[in-house]
Amino acid sequence: MIVLGIETSCDETAVALAREDGVVLSNAVLSQIARHSTYGGVVPEIAARAHVEALPDVSRHAICEAGVSWSDIDAIAATRGPGLATSLTIGLQAAKALALRLRKPFIGVHHLEAHVFSILLDPRRPPCDAITPALVLLVSGGHTALVVLEGAGRLRVIAQTVDDAAGEALDKGAKILGLPYPGGPEIERIARAGNPRAIPFPRGDIHNMRRDVRVSHPELCFSFSGMKTALLYFVREMGAGSGHLPLPDIAASYQAAVVESLTTQVERALDRVEVRSLGCAGGVARNGVLREAMASIARARGLPFCVAPPEYCTDNAAMIAALGAALLATGVAPTPIDADILPSWPLAGTTP
Ligand code: KG4
Ligand code: ZN
Repeated sequence: MIVLGIETSCDETAVALAREDGVVLSNAVLSQIARHSTYGGVVPEIAARAHVEALPDVSRHAICEAGVSWSDIDAIAATRGPGLATSLTIGLQAAKALALRLRKPFIGVHHLEAHVFSILLDPRRPPCDAITPALVLLVSGGHTALVVLEGAGRLRVIAQTVDDAAGEALDKGAKILGLPYPGGPEIERIARAGNPRAIPFPRGDIHNMRRDVRVSHPELCFSFSGMKTALLYFVREMGAGSGHLPLPDIAASYQAAVVESLTTQVERALDRVEVRSLGCAGGVARNGVLREAMASIARARGLPFCVAPPEYCTDNAAMIAALGAALLATGVAPTPIDADILPSWPLAGTTP
């Protein structure tokens, strides 16, 4: 089954073609980062207009790259939520119009479920049956969670962040350091020349946990707000003249604090849940230090480690198309054509 997927939940206009087994036929992404960078973050109105302008060309590009014709497409998938309401609307309406025009089924996909499912886009992974259930560390810009993936549309959130997401911690940390948006890749680039042990930033302290976070394993939750505040005070004190450290050392130490907070909980989770593989998904999964740390945990436990190639970790439509195809292939009903966007769609098992 070949599915065309559309992703417009934030500031990436993306269209891709993929099959239910995770084989990607094409992946077109137009990033709007340049349009938003002067504002230090995504401006919803600008993002929505840019999606309208870009979608026709990005779609044609995806079809062309895949070497298929419109009649070869079996279904249309689009991100239904969570995300920016105005941006989601553009992609969802375009997908519905295409489905009506081609007389093919339409399926609305959960953006974070698609990130988790992206571990199946790893071309080196063993067959699906051999790696599920998988423990997946989901680290996107707005979410951080530990998820047990059982199959398409079947997942359980066992823990999540109680405050900032890991990506948010990196983006806010980069802002404090005067680095451009998005901060994650900038911190990684600068950290390469630094010493990760230079400054002992606090690792996530889950004792600060809010009581209203209901997940099956609260002791495996994450917290990043403390280390961000520690960075802020550190930079302020440095500005006030109490010592000086090179930027690469600060970036490397801060990145190490974020990565170790994540991997500590992954190790604990592997002691508690029975899984057949370890995975990592979402934009922060592009980070080389995190990928290596996760791979080494998996190696030590004799588990396969599954992570998508970097271009399928940050927002993309290949994961939307692949999950849409897998859901339809396993008998999930298409989404009614009058279904609306769900900007705050919770991930199964999390507190909305
Ligand atoms: O999954 P994603 O593309 O968007 C959301 O669904 O939120 O994740 C974006 C996040 C941003 O916080 C960005 O700074 C982070 O992924 N990111 C990285 C890297 N590339 C992107 N973080 C660390 N290292 C990277 N190389
Ligand atoms: Zn995302």
